[in-house]
Amino acid sequence: MTVESQLITLGIETSCDETGVAVYRHGIGVLSNVLFSQVALHQSFGGVIPEIASRSQLERIAPLVEQAIAQAQLTLSDIDGIAVTHKPGLAGSLLVGVCFAKAIAWVLQKPLIGVNHLEGHVFSACIENEIPFPFLCLTASGGHTALYLVHNFGEFAVLGATSDDAAGEAFDKVAKMIGLGYPGGPVIEQLARTVDFVDFFHYPRSNKKTLNFSFSGLKTAVLYDLVKRKAYDLATKTFLKPDDSMLQKQVASSLLNCIADIFVTKIVSALEQYRQLKAIAFVGGVACNQFIRHKLADVACKKGVPLFFPSPKYCTDNGAMIAFVGSYKAQKKEFSDLSLDILV
Ligand code: KG4
Ligand code: ZN
Repeated sequence: MTVESQLITLGIETSCDETGVAVYRHGIGVLSNVLFSQVALHQSFGGVIPEIASRSQLERIAPLVEQAIAQAQLTLSDIDGIAVTHKPGLAGSLLVGVCFAKAIAWVLQKPLIGVNHLEGHVFSACIENEIPFPFLCLTASGGHTALYLVHNFGEFAVLGATSDDAAGEAFDKVAKMIGLGYPGGPVIEQLARTVDFVDFFHYPRSNKKTLNFSFSGLKTAVLYDLVKRKAYDLATKTFLKPDDSMLQKQVASSLLNCIADIFVTKIVSALEQYRQLKAIAFVGGVACNQFIRHKLADVACKKGVPLFFPSPKYCTDNGAMIAFVGSYKAQKKEFSDLSLDILV
């Protein structure tokens, strides 16, 4: 057994359409981090198909675990604990990771550590940075959007969350609506850059007073704006101007501005309400977005609070964030038993 201060944790993430496996050594850092993204498998459907996702997880999990261990220049017996995402996510995908992790834990007789995917995202910015507590964390991904007050490792409270769609979902749904590929976020950012991130259509911003979010209204506002511009047919759910690349760029840029402004407003409100906050972290797949990063950096600068974000490889789903959370849970001996179940 490794000395406790340098525990080695294997992290397995299979909650949706990415198979992520990593090895994290406490006090040292990420030793390996490998990923298979299923984007190409789901692209033609404009979204994730759960049956395809779970089958692909099953194909990839064993080789990726082998690869992560080899890249860390270790053998399986060097691992001190096996951390795995067990909630929330797609049932079939979660089951693959959880069953695989249980099998390793049982064979090696090493502790199993169930990790909440959202906790993984919340602490993903801590993998490469020492962030002072308490900090404000904005998590924006394809499945979740929320603001957290983070007191310490494993100790955090929700300040506000989306009551309907997540921010990433708004990017994905609008991208689908105007005939762009999946996932929507990266292509929307790319198109918006070509028109210098101008806010052409001024889509409505959400209610400023609450720290909760709502993005389904924004999606509907975009839809009705397109109908008004005779660019969308509601009856047949068809985008009528697929060759109008300028319109696609205008929609993309306006949507990006709107979502960025909503984030800025919520962060300013949270900083005003919770004066003890010492830093801001921006995490999740949407945190890859450079335009939003810059907007938040401006706010952070004005408010005199440092802003942290993970490298893009730790923003989207990955095994490293699960191994990282697993590592501090292992220090606290917060283990799961082999009856660990999934929660969708
Ligand atoms: O964290 P993540 O990989 O998976 C979930 O837990 O959902 O996030 C995926 C989401 C997708 O909705 C995708 O459109 C969005 O992150 N995303 C982006 C960008 N890159 C990925 N959104 C905006 N701008 C980007 N550059
Ligand atoms: Zn995620």
